[in-house]
Amino acid sequence: MTTAHAPGKIILIGEHAVVYGQPAIAVPVWEVVATATITNLLKDSGCTLLAPDINLRLRLIDASDELPLALVTRLALTHLGLPANPDWQIKVHSQIPMAGGLGSGAALSAALVRAIGAHAGQPTPPALISELVFASERLYHGTPSGIDNATIAYEMPIWFVKGQPPVPFTPHNPLTIAIADSGIPAPTKATVSEVRRHWQATPDRYARLFAAIGQIALAARQAIEQGDVDELGRLFNHNQAHLAELGVSSAPLNTLIQVAKSAGALGAKLSGGGRGGNVIALVQASHTAPVTQALLAAGAKRVIVTTVRR
Ligand code: PMV
Repeated sequence: MTTAHAPGKIILIGEHAVVYGQPAIAVPVWEVVATATITNLLKDSGCTLLAPDINLRLRLIDASDELPLALVTRLALTHLGLPANPDWQIKVHSQIPMAGGLGSGAALSAALVRAIGAHAGQPTPPALISELVFASERLYHGTPSGIDNATIAYEMPIWFVKGQPPVPFTPHNPLTIAIADSGIPAPTKATVSEVRRHWQATPDRYARLFAAIGQIALAARQAIEQGDVDELGRLFNHNQAHLAELGVSSAPLNTLIQVAKSAGALGAKLSGGGRGGNVIALVQASHTAPVTQALLAAGAKRVIVTTVRR
């Protein structure tokens, strides 16, 4: 039996602008993971995919490539030169809330690729995992920038520019981030296409906003590498102001952001596609409880506190 894991992810800085070539920063979230387990079956059984969380059980040969898990399994088997229908049971499970900007789909796919490689005794370098997971992500998201699969495959904080290899980097000090789920779905596809429409209508204004967000990402990377959390908190707030100008914030997200700051967060912003989904708050490790309590009292459905380290 072989088991492999992959973490969730969260975008710290630069969502939306990243689609237009600006740099962004994302980090793995190890407090919630996806797991894939492979066991051998009797000869000629073929490959069965099991996902008890979503009541899915099917034979790989019957599964359409429209199903991301089937697609990524086939891609991994092909890339690793393995039989197309091995006698395996592949079971996946995830603790990562679905459709909440934590990369649940990408993490399931990454755990799967890792498990297939490990079961076959073959290396699966991060670049390969990232590439295969990206192919499955396109089914969920249309034209994703690739930041989810890169963060989850490299399992480190990454500096990401679309179309370029991600650059893993190391925080000077651990960072504590409270991730609050607004409970409202984040319609990433819709917000990405809305931003595109606005950009087409007023290209200069939007290009200026994207470039300003890119500058914030640059400053944030420096702050993280130097351990300057006060500066990073200010940069979260600046980024949020620009996201609001892009039109992707919302009243419920603004409320959670204000509540986190009033409870002592160093800075707070939405994370991911916006409108719904998550708000992230940078906090001092000693100050996690009041911020978490305030967010829950203000209606957050769940708060995950993550520590970002090297
Ligand atoms: O909601 P998430 O965490 O998958 O993030 C979406 C991020 C965008 O920049 C809005 C889109 C993308 O593909 O990068």
